[in-house]
Amino acid sequence: MRSTFSSVILGLVGLTTAQTVTERVIPTLSPQIDALPSLTPTILDPTAPDSQACPGYKAANVVQAGHGFTADLTIAGADCQAFGNDIADLVLEVQYQTKERLNLKIYPKHISPQNSSWFILPAHLVDEPAWDGKTTANTSDLKLDWSNDPTFQFKVSRINTGEEIFSTYGHKIVYEDQYLELLTNMVDDYNVYGLAENIHDFRLGNNYNQTYYAVDAGNSIDYNVYGVIPFYQETRYHSGGNTTAHGVYARNAHGQEWLLRNSTIAYRTLGGSFDLYFLSGQTADGTSSALTTISQFQVGCIGTPAMQMYWTFGFHQCRWGYENISVVQDVVDGYKSANIPLEGVWNDLDIYELYRDFTNNQVTYPLPAFTNFIETLHANGQHYIPIIDSNIYVPNPTNASDAYSPFEHGAELQTFIRDPTTGDFYYGDNWPGFSVWGDWLIPSTQSWWTNEILTWHKGTPFDGIWIDLSEASSFCAGSCGNGRLDENPVHPPFLLPGDPLSFDFLYPESFNVSNATEASSAAAASSSQASVISASPPLPVATTTTMGRTEPTPGVRNLNFPPYVINNVQSGHALGKSSIAPNATHNDQYNTTEYEMHNLFGLQISNATYHALLQVFPGRRPFTVGRSVFAGSGKITAHWGGDNTSTWGSMFLSISQALTMMMSGIPMFGADTCGFTHNTDYQLCSRWMELSAFFPFYRNHNVKAAISQEAYRWSSVAESSRRAMKVRYSMLTYMYTLFYYAHTKGETVMRALAWEFPNDPSLRETYGQFMLGPSILVTPVLIPNVETVNGVFPGVADGTRWFDWYTLAEVDAQPQENKTLSAPLEHINVHIRGGSILALQEPKLTTNATRNTPYSLVVALDSNGKASGSLYLDDGYSLVPDAIKLVEFTYADGCLKYTSEGSYASTQPLANITVAGLQSTPHDYGHGPYANRSSSYWGHGKPKGSTLEFGGKNCSSDGRSVSYSNGVLKVTGLEKDTGNGAFESALSLCFGW
Ligand code: GLC
Repeated sequence: MRSTFSSVILGLVGLTTAQTVTERVIPTLSPQIDALPSLTPTILDPTAPDSQACPGYKAANVVQAGHGFTADLTIAGADCQAFGNDIADLVLEVQYQTKERLNLKIYPKHISPQNSSWFILPAHLVDEPAWDGKTTANTSDLKLDWSNDPTFQFKVSRINTGEEIFSTYGHKIVYEDQYLELLTNMVDDYNVYGLAENIHDFRLGNNYNQTYYAVDAGNSIDYNVYGVIPFYQETRYHSGGNTTAHGVYARNAHGQEWLLRNSTIAYRTLGGSFDLYFLSGQTADGTSSALTTISQFQVGCIGTPAMQMYWTFGFHQCRWGYENISVVQDVVDGYKSANIPLEGVWNDLDIYELYRDFTNNQVTYPLPAFTNFIETLHANGQHYIPIIDSNIYVPNPTNASDAYSPFEHGAELQTFIRDPTTGDFYYGDNWPGFSVWGDWLIPSTQSWWTNEILTWHKGTPFDGIWIDLSEASSFCAGSCGNGRLDENPVHPPFLLPGDPLSFDFLYPESFNVSNATEASSAAAASSSQASVISASPPLPVATTTTMGRTEPTPGVRNLNFPPYVINNVQSGHALGKSSIAPNATHNDQYNTTEYEMHNLFGLQISNATYHALLQVFPGRRPFTVGRSVFAGSGKITAHWGGDNTSTWGSMFLSISQALTMMMSGIPMFGADTCGFTHNTDYQLCSRWMELSAFFPFYRNHNVKAAISQEAYRWSSVAESSRRAMKVRYSMLTYMYTLFYYAHTKGETVMRALAWEFPNDPSLRETYGQFMLGPSILVTPVLIPNVETVNGVFPGVADGTRWFDWYTLAEVDAQPQENKTLSAPLEHINVHIRGGSILALQEPKLTTNATRNTPYSLVVALDSNGKASGSLYLDDGYSLVPDAIKLVEFTYADGCLKYTSEGSYASTQPLANITVAGLQSTPHDYGHGPYANRSSSYWGHGKPKGSTLEFGGKNCSSDGRSVSYSNGVLKVTGLEKDTGNGAFESALSLCFGW
């Protein structure tokens, strides 16, 4: 087999060093243990019971309170045992919590300590929105009506218009220990967005299933992925150009499904309670919008996102397969010599000894050389972020030299999840072999985790942490390490990328057009590899049994095989496939199981890491990037899109994934740029480096066994990256300011066009273009082999003006026109919306260097000759900054003004002022007189007809210059006049026409 494999490799033309592999022995793979039976997802099972045939409930004993009411719900017939054991007696609780938020809860009347965690999601794990202490039914935007005819049903509508936003009328409520269901009636052709995380079109459509069970399965299109944020926002376009929007959040962490159909959405969960929050999306004037709804969700329900450190917005390079320090050093040097910014250097598992968290490979990443390497990065203004996996290796008990202290420390404190059948720890399998997982429900786990991170930081002085496999993933079924720990370290039950026979020969769509020869070599090598594998499979082919539907058993929950089978993307669909088994048990007072907790593991490990980082860097904003997220994760972590592919389709879908994350309060989001699995090519990587430059989190990451894809590897990618990063780095303060408003007000960072232009129904599905905040429109190229891109310029029918970022030329676009824009490979189209004022800086190779350059103001006028903007500044890292500065800019009637609040001193001067979109040539550049404000020591205007003066100095002398051409006025060279800081004083500067 070895020689055959060698010939496979030799047959591949165009391999890079990363792919060239000397012969290696195929490792012994640990066999799949207890392969799970294959199940039929209930939505595909014609024999499944019809849960709508259940009896439903009747409400009685209504008790009114000013801000809502409670009632008893009693089952209205015989138990139906559809997918669990019916709960006969329920409590209904309706609360008008705030003016814009109405909450409806339904939960069992009799909850014992033993089953509390089955039903009630504790507020200390996931925020539970509460009554504001003043809202009543009379002051709410929304009202809830209900009826018992024929059984309990309810509807929620707006008080001001009567518009019904949610209604279960005509449908039964089903409440069983392992199955909850309700349906809401939907309007025709409804527009629903969100239900993150999914890899799907932005507008979810009316024939879509969102399955929720955090999963380690790559970027599975239309299935469950890593995150669970059960919130949707609906937009309705009414005749007359009026648009309304509202939101629904279902606070429930169980496995669940949302079935979007023509006239209904069905909500089904495997347990927990109904805890629904209806958001009116309304502002004080009674109108509603998507942006307001999203803000209400963040501010009122899950908490606003963390403010991230300034440097985290720089560009990051990562890959799995940086074999040793000198390879990473080459990458750092490669960026430097190509003049491409590099802020963060990341390591994957390669740093570890045998994949074990918190270790350092003493051959390839030895200390103290590695410590010195990281300190040199720091000295150069760069940062270092390593991976930490969610699993903890269990040392081989029969091998004294296999000691592994992170396990031993945790074992002493009993901090790991348990196997209920043995009472011992739950031993699953992951990269290092049989492993255990932290039980975040008990306090000792936090101190153990903090201690491991603190200790490791001494030799590996990282600046943030990348948390992986937090679904939590396990490569075998059940506690498969029971009785087998003496085999450790076992290799995972599949070939790892980089192992022989695991070469990735796939390339992006159309690679055969742009690189025909390499494409055919790759295809040949791929089929050769496939035939070697099929002739001699590294693992025996697993025999899978099929299991029929389990029936509910009175008094018993079947955790591993619940009667309702969600359409889990994992083969065979069982919940335990590739994840810790549902019956694994926590050490809390309720002995909560993974069945209830599975979707929260990612939130909890990120939370523990956040708190550990607060110990490592007291007072600093922790930077963690996690894979599995839940509603509220954005308060503590950033998130990346996981294992996407080097394909154009994957790049395209990263935009909708990002937009749904913006809706979900996790704005620090980015995709693996240039693609994770498979090989990228220069076109895809160029376009993707351009696109991701406008995502908040900007990281190029790649799997082992694919070609290298750092931005400097191809001249075209290098040039694309330099150009796109110039734009990004110039507007870092804009991005940072957007984060400030996300953090303080729940505003979104990347925005769908439909959110910014809510009255244009033609934008309801658009995500090939998007906005960054209110001012920047991005029109990326998302297909291969083109040099143009089509894009719309929204709002032009209502007078919105757009200016090209690079030239400031105004776009001449017609309403609804899909305009063709020039888009050579190295160019991404970026436009500034008229009415915006942006504070920009000079792009440098690090964020810190950029932050120390002078400011330039760009004023892009709207059709009334006005513009505004704002700028937030602080030290860039403190959790609670000592001082901040908030600058508000306005331009009106020919005068640019700004005022600032706050004592944070921004010492960089103001160098340039550019005004774009002027309708006529100014016949002078100054007029007045107007008030000489005492706080404004410069910026005095001069009587019409004279020369523009700035701080009493002629703007056309001493290195200053004023020019005007094609509607653009440029004043440059002001830095010596503003030397004590651009925004330390107010400005008022007028131009005359
Ligand atoms: C997971 C991560 C990926 C990482 C790999 C190896 O697949 O999603 O980013 O490179 O594990 O650690």
